[in-house]
Amino acid sequence: MTAIQIAPSILSADFCNLERDLNRIANADLVHVDVMDHHFVPNLTMGEPIVQRICEVTPVPADVHLMIEDPDRWAPEFAKLGAKSVTFHMGATHAPVRLARQLHDMGCEACFAVRPAEPVEPIFDILEEFDTILIMTVEPGFGGQKFLGNQMDKVRRLRDEITRRGLKTNIQVDGGVSPSTAPIVAAAGANILVAGSAVYGADDPAVAIDQIREAAQA
Ligand code: DX5
Ligand code: ZN
Repeated sequence: MTAIQIAPSILSADFCNLERDLNRIANADLVHVDVMDHHFVPNLTMGEPIVQRICEVTPVPADVHLMIEDPDRWAPEFAKLGAKSVTFHMGATHAPVRLARQLHDMGCEACFAVRPAEPVEPIFDILEEFDTILIMTVEPGFGGQKFLGNQMDKVRRLRDEITRRGLKTNIQVDGGVSPSTAPIVAAAGANILVAGSAVYGADDPAVAIDQIREAAQA
């Protein structure tokens, strides 16, 4: 099993002090950047200019989570900015394999996301195309929501399939991850943990990252 990676979500950072808040998570494996468009989800965050500056000012690799309509059109634009990986949603994309291959051609990892009511099994047929599968553990759109433990069965089924086929696919979970839920998601088979409010709601975000990592590895 690969090491646990922690990806703090800057959705819970102070948007007027983004550079300061990026510096506070220097011990993170990835910085999770939530891009929302008021259409795919009922919230609006940031676009390319801000994501570009994030990629420029932090040495932590950017993991861009697109919660937008038409990722087939827009995901490559974020890859161009230097994101390590770009995530797009099953419920938004028209041609996930084509998009994943396009991202790979640009040197960017491809991550495919499913919402809580969406099954993971349809992805099994195209699993080799992706570096990471994101299982949402809240409805996408907002930070600070309650963790959906009922998604753990999905994580286990996906981990079993990845293991059975000898693949190296990462499983990411996003939503309600904290030191208390981290052991649950790690035990189910997730290895990339996104955490927003649990990191930026803490007095010291770097300490919170270490706590989540230790809880997941315990
Ligand atoms: C929600 C976003 C998450 C969010 C998680 O739609 O995709 O990345 O920031 O926030 P927490 O960790 O507070 O649930
Ligand atoms: Zn996210």
